[in-house]
Amino acid sequence: MPFSRVIGTGGYLPEKVLTNADLAKLIDTSDEWIVSMTGISQRHVAAENESTSMLAEQAARRAIESAGISVESIDLIIVATTTPDQVFPATACLLQDKLNLHNGCAAFDIQAVCTGFVYALGVADKFIRTGGATRALVIGAETFTRIIDWTDRRTCVLFGDGAGAMILEAADEPGIISTHLHADGKYRELLHVPAGVSTAYDDVLNGEAYLEMQGSEVFKFAVNALGKTVDETLAANNMDQSEIDWLVPHQANIRIINALAKKLNMPRERVVITVNRHGNTSAASVPLAFDEAVRDGRIQRGQTVLLEAFGGGFTWGSALVKY
Ligand code: UT7
Repeated sequence: MPFSRVIGTGGYLPEKVLTNADLAKLIDTSDEWIVSMTGISQRHVAAENESTSMLAEQAARRAIESAGISVESIDLIIVATTTPDQVFPATACLLQDKLNLHNGCAAFDIQAVCTGFVYALGVADKFIRTGGATRALVIGAETFTRIIDWTDRRTCVLFGDGAGAMILEAADEPGIISTHLHADGKYRELLHVPAGVSTAYDDVLNGEAYLEMQGSEVFKFAVNALGKTVDETLAANNMDQSEIDWLVPHQANIRIINALAKKLNMPRERVVITVNRHGNTSAASVPLAFDEAVRDGRIQRGQTVLLEAFGGGFTWGSALVKY
């Protein structure tokens, strides 16, 4: 059975930057509170005419270029997003058309909120391992700022927009060493948008379908669940934490990242951090951080990288990758 490996990465952030100082003009908050409680200093916000598939296209093109492959050679597209352009078609199909890829390859979305990219990576890896695809474009892309209540200071300071991409290819050796995906819908109301197509659709039509979060409950569960997932990942591969070269965590809150780094005994310079500049870009956060650290030369070929994420659902998971 073949494995899958990462042959290219890309990322894209919208041009507009919203700083903590900008937010302090809109709501009762301060740079000091936001930085000390979350580590976030700024976030990027998509332009009004910029959709999730447009962000995804930019990230995809950069990943394709870095892999040095032709668009036509891609035979699977998976887009992880909670903020699709439309109810349907899937953002992956819109992206497929934007890339002018008309070879009939499968293209679909995955919705696991902030864990979406890790889920998409797990699914793409399984497609490749079982012979269902040979070259997959895997993306996390979000316009999360569209589902934010900009009058709610507990949530609007946290999120940003962006897209990150990876190209996976069939290979004789891993690559993706293992993925570990989890969910428990019992916690659905602690982090959600309580409206959609078949529930409270009027709220959607009226532009009142916003993210709601019980922040401290989410925080506690996330630290605990991610800690257990790290243990599970190491045990599954009979590995010691000292064998991990890089931690690329979901970028929700620097305090969650620090708690996990401490558990792994990872010095701060081995943890890829973008939350200060990107905020929480949901499914885009892990691939954006991974791409940044590959491009600036921190993550090197042959190194072992642990990706992890946590999000609404609740969903959570990890991927262990030999780059
Ligand atoms: O990606 C999905 C996963 N999401 C997460 O991982 C987010 C997890 N949660 C968190 O990161 C934290 O819960 C937050 C950073 C969102 C909040 O931290 P907290 O320690 O849970 O604070 P809190 O919500 O309990 O609020 C503490 C105080 C409150 O004031 P009172 O009631 O004690 O007077 C809030 O009203 O801080 C106040 N507060 C703010 N003050 C200034 C909340 N938001 C703000 C704000 N500026 N933006």
